Amino acid sequence: MQPRPRVAVLASGRGSNLAALLAARERGGLAADFVLVGSDKADAPALRLAEAAGVPTVALAPKAYPDRRSFDRDLLQRVTDSGAQWLVLAGYMRVLDGEALRPWVGRAINIHPSLLPKYRGLHTHRRVLEAGDREHGASVHFVTAELDGGPVIAQARLRTEAGDSEEALAARLLPLEHRLLPAVLTLLLGGRLRYRDGQVWLDGNALPAPLLLGPDGLHAAA
Ligand code: GAR
Repeated sequence: MQPRPRVAVLASGRGSNLAALLAARERGGLAADFVLVGSDKADAPALRLAEAAGVPTVALAPKAYPDRRSFDRDLLQRVTDSGAQWLVLAGYMRVLDGEALRPWVGRAINIHPSLLPKYRGLHTHRRVLEAGDREHGASVHFVTAELDGGPVIAQARLRTEAGDSEEALAARLLPLEHRLLPAVLTLLLGGRLRYRDGQVWLDGNALPAPLLLGPDGLHAAA
């Protein structure tokens, strides 16, 4: 049997996207070995989820380091030492230092709750509502040194509705995130996606626009 690709995940909080990845693997829809879940928060529920699934965990405290770069170097060294070939940021809420990240560019993806390039950073649901946008969504992108700035691989879109609150939007978006992230990771581990020249390549062709999540999975944008 072919060895399965080895994946590490970084998560700071609840871990529902991590849970979606683990569930996809359980269903047989995602051929991956999860070799490490790392966090900047020792009490992150994501770590408990990982432990329950038998995935090794590590939590490092940023305060114990003189600066961000040394923290990120150490955390990413743990990821390397785990044997991971791929890295998924699933609700990891710290900006990663560009220098420390360099060996992972092209091998790391992040899920972000907005239709990038709109609304990088925090409070995306609130900002969508404040702007009166008719549409919201989530993006999975290759991680680069620029915060939420790497090329977007795929998006899930949803309509905003009159009277929407931040909580309502987040609650409608989350199940889409839970389908989007495993779908992108499956493409990546299957060797179909590449990061080259600052662009996403799918099956050898530069992707002109992010893939879209539909009822049956990912498809090309119309
Ligand atoms: C998700 O909505 C994810 O898109 C977002 O944090 C949440 C984590 O939820 N990520 C970011 O905002 C990263 N900039 P989870 O811990 O339940 O997966």
